[in-house]
Amino acid sequence: MLRSVVTGVGAALPPDIVTNDDLAKFVDTSDAWIVERTGIHARHRAAADMPTSDLATSAARQALAVAGRSAADVDLIIIATTTPDLTFPATAAIVQRKLGAPVGIAFDVQAVCSGFVYAMAVADNFIVRGMAKCALVIGAETMTRLMDWTDRGTCVLFGDGAGAVVLEPMSGEGTTADRGILGFALRADGTKQDLLYVDGGPSTTGTVGKLRMQGNQVFRHAVVNISEAVIAAAEQAGITLSQVDWFIPHQANQRILDGVARRLGINADRVISTVAEHANTSAASIPLALACGVADGRIKPGQMLLMEAMGGGLTWGAVVLRL
Ligand code: ACO
Repeated sequence: MLRSVVTGVGAALPPDIVTNDDLAKFVDTSDAWIVERTGIHARHRAAADMPTSDLATSAARQALAVAGRSAADVDLIIIATTTPDLTFPATAAIVQRKLGAPVGIAFDVQAVCSGFVYAMAVADNFIVRGMAKCALVIGAETMTRLMDWTDRGTCVLFGDGAGAVVLEPMSGEGTTADRGILGFALRADGTKQDLLYVDGGPSTTGTVGKLRMQGNQVFRHAVVNISEAVIAAAEQAGITLSQVDWFIPHQANQRILDGVARRLGINADRVISTVAEHANTSAASIPLALACGVADGRIKPGQMLLMEAMGGGLTWGAVVLRL
């Protein structure tokens, strides 16, 4: 059977770093409060002339180089983003042009912080049906554009960045020893919209809007929902959580990462955390964390990975793969 195998990983962060102390100069907050409640120390912020597609293109180029592929090989581009360059065209089509990739399939997935997990599942379906031979799955965001800089409950939490993977088909035996995507669980519950949303859009206000959140409610749902999706994805993949080498969570808040790990009995030394330096980069956070773990040598080929996320929608999910 065909499996969708990650053959390259890449990341991009804008050069400007904003520390908690920088924020405390214009918002009523402090480094101590942010670190204690979130684990965040700093975030990267894209300059006004740096759109999401620039970050995505840079991460994609790196992933293609690692995979030993060129833009000419790419036949599918899926970008998970909630901060597209324009209302349309899809940022994936803009990235296709910037990469110089040939005519193929390119579209965006909008599932907010769960976007990368959703996009991996979508790409997997194209690959196992034989419809794509070299897919780029990218999470890319400029979340700082959606901040209300007078709302201390949200503006301290988010940052900008992008991460990308190349997915290619390889034949497997149909067992958990195969490399590639082994299972996933995807969920959405639209009745929880009020907990986390952006108060603008082309068909309502005609504006981009700002992010609004009931943080403590989101927190409560995150731990329960993510844990459920992790168990469901592991079951679908036919593995137990003890077989997972690395958990790569969406990086929202260190307390959410710790809460999920505690609930599932996972040791902190099997969890990749980048929230301290990146803050919450929404759909970009999982591939950024993956790229960090690969770059520093912790994550190795052949290991079992479990990625999980929850975000606006609410949406949530998890994906299991062997690297
Ligand atoms: N600095 C100082 N004080 C603050 C700040 C800040 N940046 N933000 C809020 N406070 C204050 C509040 O005003 C409140 O003050 P009060 O008691 O005088 O009214 C007090 O801190 C406590 O507020 P809570 O909202 O109850 O604080 P909590 O411990 O829940 O922490 C936080 C808030 C960090 C937002 C937390 O709820 C959280 O992380 N939730 C998850 C939200 C999240 O990560 N969303 C991202 C998208 S979804 C996802 O990615 C999973």
